[in-house]
Amino acid sequence: MVRHGGVARKTRQKDEDQSQLSFESLADFPVVPIKDLRQEEPSAPAAAEEGAGGGERAGRKRPERRVTAEMLATRQREISVAEFFTKNRHLLGFDNPSRALLTTVKEAVDNALDACEEAGILPDIKVIITATNGGERFRVEVIDNGPGIVKAQIPKIFGKLLYGSKFHTLRQARGQQGIGISAAGMYGQLTTGTPMVIVSRIRQSLPASRFLLRIDTQHNRPEILEESLVDVAWDHGTSVALELEALYKKGPHSVDEYVELTAVANPHASFVYTPPEGETAAFERTSRALPPEAREMKPHPYGVELGMLLAVFQAARRGSVSAALQQNFSRVSAKVAAEICEKAGVGAHANPSRLTPQQAEAVYKAIREVKIMAPPSNSVAPIGEELVQAGLRRKFDADYYFSCTRPPAVYRGNPFVIEAGIAFGGSLPADSSAEIVRFANRVPLLYQKGACAITESACDVAWRNYGLQQPRGALPVGPIAVLVHMASAWVPFTSESKEAIAHYPEIMKEMRLALQECGRKLGMHISARRRQAEADRKRSYIEKYIPHIGIALREMLGLQEAQERTVNENLKTLLEKRPV
Ligand SMILES: Nc1ncnc2c1ncn2[C@@H]1O[C@H](COP(=O)(O)OP(=O)(O)OP(=O)(O)O)[C@@H](O)[C@H]1O
Ligand SMILES: [Mg+2]
Repeated sequence: MVRHGGVARKTRQKDEDQSQLSFESLADFPVVPIKDLRQEEPSAPAAAEEGAGGGERAGRKRPERRVTAEMLATRQREISVAEFFTKNRHLLGFDNPSRALLTTVKEAVDNALDACEEAGILPDIKVIITATNGGERFRVEVIDNGPGIVKAQIPKIFGKLLYGSKFHTLRQARGQQGIGISAAGMYGQLTTGTPMVIVSRIRQSLPASRFLLRIDTQHNRPEILEESLVDVAWDHGTSVALELEALYKKGPHSVDEYVELTAVANPHASFVYTPPEGETAAFERTSRALPPEAREMKPHPYGVELGMLLAVFQAARRGSVSAALQQNFSRVSAKVAAEICEKAGVGAHANPSRLTPQQAEAVYKAIREVKIMAPPSNSVAPIGEELVQAGLRRKFDADYYFSCTRPPAVYRGNPFVIEAGIAFGGSLPADSSAEIVRFANRVPLLYQKGACAITESACDVAWRNYGLQQPRGALPVGPIAVLVHMASAWVPFTSESKEAIAHYPEIMKEMRLALQECGRKLGMHISARRRQAEADRKRSYIEKYIPHIGIALREMLGLQEAQERTVNENLKTLLEKRPV
C-alpha cells in the first residue's frame, strides 16, 4: 500500500513538473508511469464482496485476473477485410433484404455506367431480376456494352474486396472504394451459397470469358470454381449474375425507383429493366452526348493532411522537397514550391525523406499560408442546367421546371459542383412536403435521407421568401419536387454504402445557393402567376357587368340595339388593351 502510494505521489509530482514544459511533437511527450488503478474507487460488486469479507483490505482487493497478456496474444490475429464486412454488412447497404436487392443492382449498374463512360461508349444496360426459390431469393443479372474486363482481372475484381481501378485516382466516378460488386457477390454467397457468374468480352475477335467465382472470406481472395470460353451475341461488354436472399417491393427505396432515377440523371444511357413482377420497362436515352470526360487530378495541397504529406516525403527517396510537392499535388509550380519552402524554413533542394518531423510539419503549416490557385474544375462533369430540367420532366408531370448549375467550388482540396432543379405545379400533390431527389455523381441516393447534407440544406433555405409554405426547419409544402446533384472527384459519403453526403460547410453552402437560385426563379414565377390570377379575376367581374352598362346607356341615351352592341364591343376592346 505504502509502496503504491509512493509511486502515485511521485507520478503526481512528475506530472506537475512536466506541465511546465512545452512539447513540440508527440515524440517529445514524456513517458509517465500509469497511475496505480488500485488507488481508484473500487467497483460496486468488488466493494460488496470485500465488505462481506470485512477487514482493513475492504475496497482494495484486486479483481481476479481472467486473462493474461500471453493468453490474449494467442487470440490476437489479423482480420480479413471480407470477414469484417461479413459481420458489418450494414455498412455496405446489406442490412435488410429489400435494401440488399437495391444495393446489388446499384453496384452492378454503377460499374457498368462507369466502364462505358471511361471507354467513351454510350451505355446500353439491361437489368433482369428473376424470383427463385418461391420468392425468397432473386437472381440479378446486369449486362452492359462496356469495354469488358481482361480475363486475368475478372477473379480479382469480383472475388476480392478492396480491389478496383478508382480508389487511387482523383476523378469523378460512381465507384470509389473497390468494394461494391465483390461485396454484392459475397452477400449472395453468404445468403444462398451460390457463386457469381461473370461473362465478359473485350473485343469481337476474341471469345468471351466465363467464370464461376466465390470469395474465400477468410483470406479475402477469389476462388475459381469454373472457367471457360464461350460465345455471346455481343461484341464487347460484361454480364454479372448473382443470386441472393432478398425482397422485391415497389414504391420508395425500390429498385424500380432506382432505375427510373438513374435514367433521369443519365440521359445519355438507355436501360431495359425487367422486374421480377410486371412488364419490362425501357428507358430510352434522351441525349446522345456523353458527359464530358472528367480529368484525373492530383490532390490539392489545401486539402492535404500531415500524415499524407509525410507519406509523400517518405516515398520520394530521391529528388528535392520542391519536386516532391510539384509532382504529387495539383497547382504547385516551382515558384509556389519555393515560396512554401521559404515560409517553412526548409531548403527547396533538401532530400524530402531526410526531413525531420518538425520540418515536415513546418512545410504542412506553410502550405496554408501560401496563396495557391484553386484546383482545376475539369475533373468534375456536372449534368448541366438543360439536362437537369429534361430529367425532371421525365420524372415529374409538372407545369414548370427550373434549374441551376453552380460554378466549381472546393472542400478539403477536392473540387465539386452542385446542381439543383425544381419541378412545380401540374400533378404534384399540393398539400404534402416537397419530394426531394438526391444524386451524387449521377447516382440516386435512396436511403438515409435524414442524414444527408442535401436534405439539411433544403430545409435551411427560407422557402417562404419564394411564396411557398414552410414549417419551421422543414422542407417546403406545396406542389414542388426538389433535385440536388453533387458532382465531385471525391464525394464525402457518411459510410461505405454511399447513401448520404457528409455535412461539410463548403458543400452545404453551395447547395443552399443553388436551391436559392432555383427558389428565386420559382418565386418570380409564383408572384407573376398571382398577379395574372388577380387581373383575370378583376377582368371577369368587369366583363360580367358590360352588358348591364350597355343596357343602362341605351335606356339613358335612347340608343339603338346596334349602337348598344357597338358600346359593348368598345368597352371590351378597352378592357383588353388596358392592364387592370
Ligand atoms: N462492368 C464492368 N466493366 C468493366 N470494369 C468493371 C466492371 N465492373 C467492375 N469493373 C472494374 O472492377 C473494379 C472493382 O469494382 P467495384 O464495384 O468492386 O469497385 P469500384 O467501382 O472501384 O468502387 P466502389 O466500391 O465504390 O463501387 C472497378 O474499379 C472497375 O475497374
Ligand atoms: Mg463499383
